[in-house]
Amino acid sequence: MFEILKRQEMAGGTVVLNEISAPAIARKAKPGQFVILKANETGERIPLTMADTDPKKGTITIIYQVVGKSTTLFKSLQVGERFQDVIGPLGQATHLEKLGTVVCVGGGTGVAVLHPITRGLKEIGNRVIAIIGARTKDLLILEDKMKAASNELHVCTDDGSYGHHGFVTDVLKEILEKEDVKMVVGIGPVPMMKFVCKVTEQYKVKTLVSLNAIMVDGTGMCGCCRVTIGGETRFACVDGPEFDGHKVDFDELSQRLNAYKEDEAVAMQQYACKCQAG
Ligand SMILES: Cc1cc2nc3c(=O)[nH]c(=O)nc-3n(C[C@H](O)[C@H](O)[C@H](O)COP(=O)(O)OP(=O)(O)OC[C@H]3O[C@@H](n4cnc5c(N)ncnc54)[C@H](O)[C@@H]3O)c2cc1C
Ligand code: FES
Repeated sequence: MFEILKRQEMAGGTVVLNEISAPAIARKAKPGQFVILKANETGERIPLTMADTDPKKGTITIIYQVVGKSTTLFKSLQVGERFQDVIGPLGQATHLEKLGTVVCVGGGTGVAVLHPITRGLKEIGNRVIAIIGARTKDLLILEDKMKAASNELHVCTDDGSYGHHGFVTDVLKEILEKEDVKMVVGIGPVPMMKFVCKVTEQYKVKTLVSLNAIMVDGTGMCGCCRVTIGGETRFACVDGPEFDGHKVDFDELSQRLNAYKEDEAVAMQQYACKCQAG
């Protein structure tokens, strides 16, 4: 179990896709849910959303950005090797509803999280307009899959190297001006989600976001993933990870994500030294 069956590097090796054998999880998982993985006995527990599942094959797919020690260790795992633990499915599934026209907005690796939700919304009969963005063309992921999962796809790059030159929120504004949009789902870096919500607030359109709060147990016990939603404390692992974006305290979320920056840098440095020493 938990053997890596497929491994693909994307976005110049900064993002990695792993298809993993996990039949029991693949049978139960729904769009929006996540798993917690550990590479080995002493490894850290890392939450990652399932970008895809195949119940027949008994596999789940994760797509992760290589940002620190644990994701660098994950990247070193090759086809045929195994994750020691994969726990899930965790979190609440996305509430998929037929509403009419919906817009799915994804930034960076957030597109991986957005993909099954986009597909699910289209499958139940919504007209889905997708907007995906990245800093530059080389960092864009899953363009083909998002095209297949939606009725209309817009691509943006910050530097104008591909698609619309500018932010996903520019295109979102244009769409909200001319379409009767019933719901927006925005998933990506915290500042992106914050600005998507600022835009949709002006048009009074319901907006869902997926919060990447720091997690440890993923079961509501440790309190690590607490977030403030509408002035009340919620746990992203069991109450989320999706919430009404207009109620999220994004500034507090950013502060909490930055709390361990120094320790994360030290862990990465020590891991790099160990690797070099062989
Ligand atoms: C429910 C959920 C789903 C996620 N899905 C994805 C996904 O599909 N793809 C993806 O690329 N990333 C996803 N993330 C973020 C991913 O878990 C972190 O990037 C990863 O834990 C970083 O670990 P690291 O040791 O490599 O980096 P570190 O050096 O530990 O940290 C680097 C950065 O990642 C953030 N981070 C560290 N630990 C966690 C943690 N336990 N939870 C969340 N953020 C953390 C830090 O704030 C920091 O900015 C998800 C997070 C959550 C909570
Ligand atoms: S991760 Fe521990 S309570 Fe959510």
